Amino acid sequence: MCGIFGYLGYQDAAPLVLAGLERLAYRGYDSAGVAVIDRAGHLEVRKSAGKLANLTTLLEREPLSGSGLGHTRWATHGAPTDANAHPHLDGTGEVVVVHNGIVENYIELKARLTAEGHEFSSATDTEVIPHLIQELLAQGHTLAEAVRLAAAELRGAHAIACMHAGSPDTLVALRIGNAGGVSVGFGSGEMFVASDLPALLPLTTSVAPLAPGEMAVVTPEGCEMLTLDGRRIDTARQTVTMNPVAAAKGGHRHFMLKEIMEQPESAMSCLRGRLAFTPPSAVLGELPFTSEELRSLSRVVFLGMGTTQYATRVGARMTELLARLPASAEDASEYRYREPVVDEATLAVGVSQSGETADTLEAMHLAADGGARTLAITNVAGSQADRGADATLLMHAGPEIGVASTKTFVNSMLVMYLLATHLGHARGALTDDAAAGHVDAAARLPALLGEALELNRGVYERLAAAYVKARRFLFLGRGLLDPIAREGALKLKEISYIHAEGMAAAEMKHGPIALIDRETPVVALVLRDALYEKMLGNISEVKARGGVVIAIATAGDDSIAAQVDDVLWVPPCPPMLAPMLAAVPVQLFAYHTAVHLGNDVDQPRNLAKSVTVE
Ligand code: M6R
Repeated sequence: MCGIFGYLGYQDAAPLVLAGLERLAYRGYDSAGVAVIDRAGHLEVRKSAGKLANLTTLLEREPLSGSGLGHTRWATHGAPTDANAHPHLDGTGEVVVVHNGIVENYIELKARLTAEGHEFSSATDTEVIPHLIQELLAQGHTLAEAVRLAAAELRGAHAIACMHAGSPDTLVALRIGNAGGVSVGFGSGEMFVASDLPALLPLTTSVAPLAPGEMAVVTPEGCEMLTLDGRRIDTARQTVTMNPVAAAKGGHRHFMLKEIMEQPESAMSCLRGRLAFTPPSAVLGELPFTSEELRSLSRVVFLGMGTTQYATRVGARMTELLARLPASAEDASEYRYREPVVDEATLAVGVSQSGETADTLEAMHLAADGGARTLAITNVAGSQADRGADATLLMHAGPEIGVASTKTFVNSMLVMYLLATHLGHARGALTDDAAAGHVDAAARLPALLGEALELNRGVYERLAAAYVKARRFLFLGRGLLDPIAREGALKLKEISYIHAEGMAAAEMKHGPIALIDRETPVVALVLRDALYEKMLGNISEVKARGGVVIAIATAGDDSIAAQVDDVLWVPPCPPMLAPMLAAVPVQLFAYHTAVHLGNDVDQPRNLAKSVTVE
């Protein structure tokens, strides 16, 4: 995950920016850079691929003096080279930008700017931003106004910091959606900007985190806050404690909530370097298999447990749909004891956020012994799953502290979506155009997750209070949402201790329907997809028996509210993203119910983060 650090004040920025970037290094990066503007208005940039030590050496050799900003980059568009490292400049060399996010429409913006005579020196999407700002400055806008107007042209979620050689005492920072945070830190005669709080805390405990849609115009004396539509707002300045645990929670009450809220950013980390747009493809360079080997596969077996097993059910359906390969999602603990049929044409994919789940590891060994090629999908590099498999795809979700899996759930589905796209394209099941459609869809996920997190504000707390006395819950879904119904039930029971069952909606008629009564609310996942009408039928069956229904529905579906008791909305989205977006309301519903009950949300009773015994 990229990091941003900026400094304005009486000290030289470069050493402070370097130290700030060091504190952000835990997020992972492959290149780094610093830009500094001196009193005379000279703007200079130093950047270097590789570790921060390379940048430090460069700055020792070619020191800089003045105010400035810096960035640690994790490559998305363009290889991790010096040229692609941030900061990026416009053509005049006077506007400098660092950026976290993916400019989803950068190809069209770059084409327009190129046609207007702009020249680019990197392969990044970010470079269009300083060029857009320069164009607006040339039209007479102030720096703050130019940054704001340029931001309005960008699709996707972004965190941006920008300076201009002509005003070394001003830094403009903004946040669109959830591509990572931006916080302003207040000093005395000096000010800081950073992408997260741990980078600021050694310097100041007085901070103002930007909400999505806000921007800050920072000078050494303070900062002015605005919305991205240009309205001035109060600076939400707050004092944070130096307590490292509280700091690590980033202002959230629980790790689980923090991890739910950072899903846009963790999805972005997962996508970094894995999407190519020209020509479009899912780039999974970690896979050692040749196209011929991928074409020779006869099936894919996904192995996992618990929440992760529900993610694999989504992965198996995607693999069947996109790669036209028979695929199954197996409970690893059952698979390992049932003498399964395995051969050299099987790809066994062990999915485990911890990489240490005993049953999943054993099932992978069993498949390898049977001749299968093995692939691990895990969040922990160096875990047993990673070490034991032929290849690994990391989830890149960042550390997950809460016992309940949330962001690793979404990221495991996302990795399997990329895998299915890659397999489908390599095997000829997806045309170039179809693969391009999936690459575009995947690139939209971070921004859509941000929207999903913004919807239903205040509703979760109301529903938690209204339904907390329920005897049990049923969760129903179809297609790609059947596994999300199961996950919704698991999330609710593991942290609220209320019994819940999740199932394919049609299954309800075959027994569970006997449970329907006023004390058994039904959560129905009824997004506008191909099975929408079928789900409406299932909802009618519940209502006809006097049941209570909470729908998880597509925002804008005005007709659903009249048919159910309560609704939680999900933004409209491409079909393959539906399970990842529908995960958000089921997570937040479970979270708020558990909080309402006063439970230990991060460490629910009897549970462990990694289950290393069978
Ligand atoms: O580390 P893993 O992904 O292999 O863990 C498997 C399950 O124990 C895990 O998904 C569990 O169900 C969740 N933590 C529950 O939220």
